[in-house]
Amino acid sequence: MIIIREAERFRRFLGEKATGTSFGFVPTMGALHAGHLALLHRSKRETDKTICSIFVNPTQFNDPADFSKYPITLEDDIRMLEMTGVDILFLPDVHEIYPEGTASLETYDLGRMDQLLEGRQRPGHFQGVCQVVHRLLSVTRPDVLFMGRKDFQQCMVIRRLIHLKSIPVRLEICDTVREADGLAMSSRNMRLSPDDRSTAPILYDVLNRLKRGLDAGPLESRLRAGREALAAAGFRVDYLEICRTTDLEPVTEWDGHTPITALAAAFLGEVRLIDNIDLTA
Ligand code: PAF
Repeated sequence: MIIIREAERFRRFLGEKATGTSFGFVPTMGALHAGHLALLHRSKRETDKTICSIFVNPTQFNDPADFSKYPITLEDDIRMLEMTGVDILFLPDVHEIYPEGTASLETYDLGRMDQLLEGRQRPGHFQGVCQVVHRLLSVTRPDVLFMGRKDFQQCMVIRRLIHLKSIPVRLEICDTVREADGLAMSSRNMRLSPDDRSTAPILYDVLNRLKRGLDAGPLESRLRAGREALAAAGFRVDYLEICRTTDLEPVTEWDGHTPITALAAAFLGEVRLIDNIDLTA
């Protein structure tokens, strides 16, 4: 695996690439787990060369404590990437990504995405995600970008970024990878206490309960029961909502056929977990 730390060197490297070679890209913030590896394996199956980046992006953390506690496991990450057969690791520092600093970065018209769900709870988060992904894509210039469905709203934001900036890349959204007990894989899971780790799968149980026996009609009592079940298990609920899959607008009354998705964010201790399930798949 080639490790490239400088944007300029990456550009030179791409200048020498064989024409006709397709590149897949998986951006990460490190602390790699089986969810990331599934994205990398998919990229390896579907493209000629696979690029991974590791960069903990300061501009997407609305909570400085979350940024300072973000797990860093670089040696293990590099070992995993080598074992997976990744071709290139882009490992920039903050000056490579933001050469002019972070004070006056571009902002993006994300429409309602900045106000709904994660956008509402984490002001500025998706602007930060767009700033870093825009920069990473302009350096790595992949043909296909692989992202995980666990961060469903992030995938929709990136789809919008690609459209807004006419970036010539195809976005592939890949299924959420789960632990055996259903907990969605996340780098944050390693910060859960043993007790909280055993409670955490209840988030997915509650989402599944919303799906069981779902009928057209009002959804509020189901959602209320779900929020109560989470609170009773010890979660501090940020949101549990059912939304239109296409644009994440909240749905309070379902017509029985519009595609809808249930999305949740909730804290266990200081760790914020998110998850979602497609209710109409
Ligand atoms: O999902 C993540 O890990 C991050 O938001 C991403 C896409 C790597 C941007 O920093």
